[in-house]
Amino acid sequence: MKTSDPKKLIIVSNRLPVKAELRDEIIHFEKSAGGLATGLNSLGVSYDKHWIGWPGIHTDNDQTEKELNLSLENYNFHPVFMWEKDIELYYEGYSNSTLWPLFHYFYVYTTHDQETWEAYKRVNALFLEKVLEVASEHDIIWIQDYHLMLLPMMVREHLPSVRIGFFLHIPFPSFELFRTLENRQELLTGLLGADLIGFHTFTYMRHFLSALYRITGIESDDNTFHFRNRTLSVDAFPMGINYDNFFNAHKQPDVARIASQFRERYRDRRLVLSVDRLDYSKGIPLRLEAFRLLLQRYPQWRGHVSLVMILVPSRDSVDRYHDLKVGIDEAIGNINGTFSQEGWIPIHYFYKGFSFSELAAYYHESDVALVTPLRDGMNLVAKEYVAAKAGKPGVLILSELAGAAIELTEALQVNPNNIGEIADTLHRALLMPREDQLARLAGMQAKLKKHDVARWAADFIDKLECVHIKQRDIKKKYLRPNQAREIASAFKKAHKRLLILDYDGTLVPFHNDPAKALPDPSLKRLLQSLAGTAGVELAIISGRNKEFLESIFGDLAIALFAEHGALRRVAGQWESVYRKDLAWQPEIRRIMQEVSDSTPGSHVEKKNTALVWHYRNSDKWLADLRSAQLVNKLIYPCTRRQLHLMRGDKIIEVKPSEYTKGTTIRTFFRCDEYDFILAAGDDTTDEDMFAILPREAVTIKVGTPSEYSRYTIDNNGELLKLLRLLIK
Ligand code: UDP
Ligand code: G6P
Repeated sequence: MKTSDPKKLIIVSNRLPVKAELRDEIIHFEKSAGGLATGLNSLGVSYDKHWIGWPGIHTDNDQTEKELNLSLENYNFHPVFMWEKDIELYYEGYSNSTLWPLFHYFYVYTTHDQETWEAYKRVNALFLEKVLEVASEHDIIWIQDYHLMLLPMMVREHLPSVRIGFFLHIPFPSFELFRTLENRQELLTGLLGADLIGFHTFTYMRHFLSALYRITGIESDDNTFHFRNRTLSVDAFPMGINYDNFFNAHKQPDVARIASQFRERYRDRRLVLSVDRLDYSKGIPLRLEAFRLLLQRYPQWRGHVSLVMILVPSRDSVDRYHDLKVGIDEAIGNINGTFSQEGWIPIHYFYKGFSFSELAAYYHESDVALVTPLRDGMNLVAKEYVAAKAGKPGVLILSELAGAAIELTEALQVNPNNIGEIADTLHRALLMPREDQLARLAGMQAKLKKHDVARWAADFIDKLECVHIKQRDIKKKYLRPNQAREIASAFKKAHKRLLILDYDGTLVPFHNDPAKALPDPSLKRLLQSLAGTAGVELAIISGRNKEFLESIFGDLAIALFAEHGALRRVAGQWESVYRKDLAWQPEIRRIMQEVSDSTPGSHVEKKNTALVWHYRNSDKWLADLRSAQLVNKLIYPCTRRQLHLMRGDKIIEVKPSEYTKGTTIRTFFRCDEYDFILAAGDDTTDEDMFAILPREAVTIKVGTPSEYSRYTIDNNGELLKLLRLLIK
């Protein structure tokens, strides 16, 4: 670990923002001014920025590799070299023939292949080696995209407290698709090494959280969840563009020159522009069919409107891409062959990449941009078109299935599968009054200016920093071994000691069938030893009913509090202190039962003092919906009858307000008489008791950290270890 280095921001992505090429044994670099590079360049100067990635070249020559390393290190670029076979298996294979098609909902294009998965793991580990060469614990590591989903956890295992962010630039698919991946669990666990996981839209984030819950059982609270003693955050950060560059481009002499040549070439034609990497996710064949339909349905545009189609070569070594290209060439040939007239060609087709100046000029001059991907994580072309128009009119037609559609609401949005709708929308766009065009563009420009790529990068890094600070605070709450020893020693020194323990989730783990959540003999022995220690009072306080507690702890000389204290057994005798008026129950029971009947797997429990709706065994999505509905239905009757409405762990409980664990402890125990108090619980109901206990009491939340407890212990097994330590 290099602790003397200044704090570094290390970007890790499949590609470096330069492409190396060997021509006549000489290395040439082509800089790529992609969005990410721009965003990072504009970040605050307090970071020393580094970039780790593949230089886009394969070499077996050590000397060339050394030279490449040296030249790139000057820019803080750290190349990762791969075997040619690995490029094929990891890049063309698992990344672009498994993850890419599946995440873009091309299920039938998805290949499942063990060899490519092995290469994916191998190459992620190769990136790890480079990360470990460059990074130290106090740096920020920001990992990009689907090629490197295993890397966050790999890095975490070597640098436990480093800040790690992960951003997915493509959609995260619905659980139903994600679950089809053989390696779904490993991919998710890989991501969980990050502190912050970012997506372009909240829909992708929602899909991720749903897959996480259904595959690993991890539940999120707002945008955060806990995994292996760490708190992780997920959020949506829609990526922006370098707005000012595009907005001001038309003023640059070279852009102005290209723009006037472009206009000159097409003279008084109306121009529809389409710009994409050649990719099946971009919906190009359907777009061509929609343009054909425009010429058929609205023949008045023949001879007057041309489609300028720019396709940038991409991943052509992957078969699907090659086949797609053949189909597109044919379709364009067919449309041009059918409709061309003297002096007019319907589609002008370019199969090559264009420079920033060329693109900016084409955007500025085109009347309509037709952006109709079938799925797209974001789609920056749409945003660039809007910005580059500057004060000139123009219409953006945008697929509702592109991430950008969420922000660009003033665009004419279409279903990219509906060619009739696209054709009609093209017709509408070509007829749209100038004022309407300008107003729509202005609305979108204001948003893009505010949320540009610099802001995107800064927002992500700021959030990562906040998550890290929050984690540090939470980490402090987790009980450390030396603190456990201190607690044991304080216990031993004390004379009058009180131990208050919750039951479910605290002394025993949860069970799908509550009747089966029973203590094993060793737990009974432990409790017996604790209770038998001189000067120790042991109380179990639970939401369970009296019969259950009596059946499992009846033989122990301990105090038992059932139903949060409404019934209690002290000195061997049960007594009830609850309000006998149960007139409130029929109404509440009817409401709960109604909801329960429409939620398979749930049931209503009737206790002496409470009614509880349990939904641990119900589908999470349905249970979330029903519990919200139930709470809504219960609020008014509970207020009217002065009842306590409470959400616990997979339960909703209604009871008279006088019996909480807090009120029970306050009325029953004189806390100031003890010189050692320890209370442990795992649920929201236990927070009531933590809150009323004296500050010096050892209050322990089992599971996730809580506001009122002093300490957190990860699981009930760890708590039992602490209890054993007390009497060791
Ligand atoms: N682009 C380019 N030259 C071209 C065509 C496109 O540099 O000839 C750039 C374009 O400006 C945009 C990016 O490629 O920034 C494409 O990003 P987008 O999000 O639209 O699609 P992706 O290729 O990431 O799927
Ligand atoms: C998408 C991906 C990027 C990728 C880019 C170009 O935008 O999200 O990670 O770099 O396409 O693809 P390529 O395979 O050429 O790197």
